[in-house]
Amino acid sequence: MKRRSIFLAAIGIVFAAPAFAEADLEAGAKVFKKCAACHAVGAKAKNKVGPTLNGVVGAAWGKVEGYKYSGGKDGTLLQMAEAEERVWDIPSLDAYLLKPKDVIPKGKMAFAGLKKEEDRANVIAYLASFDEAGEETDPAPVLEAAAGEGS
Ligand code: HEC
Repeated sequence: MKRRSIFLAAIGIVFAAPAFAEADLEAGAKVFKKCAACHAVGAKAKNKVGPTLNGVVGAAWGKVEGYKYSGGKDGTLLQMAEAEERVWDIPSLDAYLLKPKDVIPKGKMAFAGLKKEEDRANVIAYLASFDEAGEETDPAPVLEAAAGEGS
């Protein structure tokens, strides 16, 4: 029962549009152009202004090696992640991408946010299509596992 509702929640959020996973990924790749000034994905991704985003869907906050996250004071990414276990599940990613400062008030992601729910869902699906090593993977089970309840 619980598994089923989690599964439906993931599908509902991500595939609400009457489009197929592939179309969503294509749309997500387009949306990702807005992130690409600061973030990279893929096998050759390197940290830029922001950390690489390989495997970020369902991952703990602030875990990319060699990247210096905001930290040291209340409301920064590392501080929040130390205070409580934080995972980038779909609800928290969705909220962060809508308005980064609402989720991490003193964070250093200087991005206005994506107003359209569809853009957020598509870019999250796109991110879910890269595993930790930056190899392409089927996003459906990744999204299902990350359906979560927010952190
Ligand atoms: C102007 C640069 C910039 C843009 C544009 C930007 N980000 Fe970021 N992002 C950052 C920075 C800097 C951080 C680190 C935040 C911190 O340490 O507080 C970050 C952190 C993140 C994290 C947390 C990663 C982790 O390892 O915990 C995610 C997820 C993320 N960004 C997704 C996105 C997505 C998706 C987009 C596009 C829709 C985007 N960002 C656009 C700069 C940017």
